Amino acid sequence: MTRNDSLYSTLIDKKLVPVIKIADADDSEALADALVTGGLSVAEVTFRTSCAAEAIGRMKDSRPGMFVGAGTVLRAAQVDEAVHAGADFIVSPGFDRGVVERCIELGVPVVPGCVTPTEIGYAVSYGLGTVKFFPASQFGGPATLKALAAPFAGISFIPTGGIDMSNLRSYTSLQCVLAVGGSFMASEKLIAQKAWGEIAARTRAAITEAATTVRI
Ligand code: 3PG
Repeated sequence: MTRNDSLYSTLIDKKLVPVIKIADADDSEALADALVTGGLSVAEVTFRTSCAAEAIGRMKDSRPGMFVGAGTVLRAAQVDEAVHAGADFIVSPGFDRGVVERCIELGVPVVPGCVTPTEIGYAVSYGLGTVKFFPASQFGGPATLKALAAPFAGISFIPTGGIDMSNLRSYTSLQCVLAVGGSFMASEKLIAQKAWGEIAARTRAAITEAATTVRI
């Protein structure tokens, strides 16, 4: 099994991607520990802070078994920065051809944001199998996602934006959902407070919630 296959299996298995905004790279190791302690070996570190690339590298160094992706990747140059830091996958909020093409060139999995049939069509035309549905709540939530997915057999989705424990199951219950993204397991505030126990507990609770969902 390739590393990319293992990443896919991890996403299918746990159905969760914690979306991370980290302000201090010195928190990287403890954050990685908290997520792994909670039962998750995957995270998306967003390029919304200047230390994101460093944090990806440090999380990977301390927990080599973890899959750490780069999120909020807006430009092709950031793909190179993220991959150089060790990123296992790339996530972007929208569909940017430059970002997608650079990821394909480098052979790194890419999950672009798509909220319309046209954008999903772009992803299909590049041979991509998974897209991000963002911001999920504002674009109609599970009902819209289900309707969008219907004509795109074989495409799976990672809905993100406005998802927490109160509505997690409404997304994980959908067949088209590969995994759900969100900051609710490891929020910016909890990381800044170094609330590692709370992050592990929230992660564990989310895994249980996702695992006990009945698929519809
Ligand atoms: C993202 O970039 O995926 C989102 O900002 C995460 O959204 P959330 O904070 O509502 O979970």
